[in-house]
Amino acid sequence: MENAIKNYEDVDSWKTIMFLYNSALKEIGTKLDILNDEFQHVHKYNPIEHIKTRVKTPESIVKKLRKNGYEISIENMVKYVNDIAGVRLICSFTSDIYRLAEMIGNQNDLKVLSIKDYIRNPKESGYKSYHMIVSVPIFLSDSVVDTKVEIQIRTIAMDFWASLEHKIYYKFEGNAPEYISRELRECAEMVSSLDDKMLSLNEAILNCLREQEELRISTKRNERSHTNRVAISGAAGK
Ligand code: GTP
Ligand code: MG
Repeated sequence: MENAIKNYEDVDSWKTIMFLYNSALKEIGTKLDILNDEFQHVHKYNPIEHIKTRVKTPESIVKKLRKNGYEISIENMVKYVNDIAGVRLICSFTSDIYRLAEMIGNQNDLKVLSIKDYIRNPKESGYKSYHMIVSVPIFLSDSVVDTKVEIQIRTIAMDFWASLEHKIYYKFEGNAPEYISRELRECAEMVSSLDDKMLSLNEAILNCLREQEELRISTKRNERSHTNRVAISGAAGK
């Protein structure tokens, strides 16, 4: 923000704003930890594999404002850069993504400002992920400030693909040779079928375990009623 910060007042507002974004990440991080713990408590299962958070660097904020044709100012950055505070949630299965998105949407104090579902509508590159821009209220000593956070939710496989694609994109500055882009698109298809297979395999495993458990309970019930019958007929014979 080299041009935006001209005097001490601006330095002060820059620091205040970055403090708000860092606080927003803490708030969202705690909410997600609680949701994950509650899910573990009720369903004995964690929908979140891991969480990554980051605050955008000043260089990257300036680059984004320039790219989108905005003057470099603190006001524009707050207004137009939605991903200064970013959270990435990595899940095992596609179904976890929608479950988490719904749980986040149900948090009364969060406002969902926008949703981009690149899983149902993948990008041309093959990119898949579920994006939400939310605002979270930050309670200060004398005011409450709604602060924006970008939440990206994706599977481990989608994350693997996106990080490789991102590295390649940067190496070639957006102009990767056609065969590399093509192979990446093919990999994206492989990622989608891997995700589909893993999801159906997981469902099959859960069904199998459920059936085994039902069988165990009904065998136990039958054994108990058999023991009772033997005991009753034994008592009647006396
Ligand atoms: P920016 O891409 O951040 O300028 O924002 P945008 O307003 O175009 O939003 P979009 O939802 O398309 O992308 C937001 C973020 O998603 C990016 O900053 C990346 O982290 C990620 N992303 C979007 N598209 C791609 C892609 O094709 N490949 C990879 N690796 N990541 C992507
Ligand atoms: Mg971004």
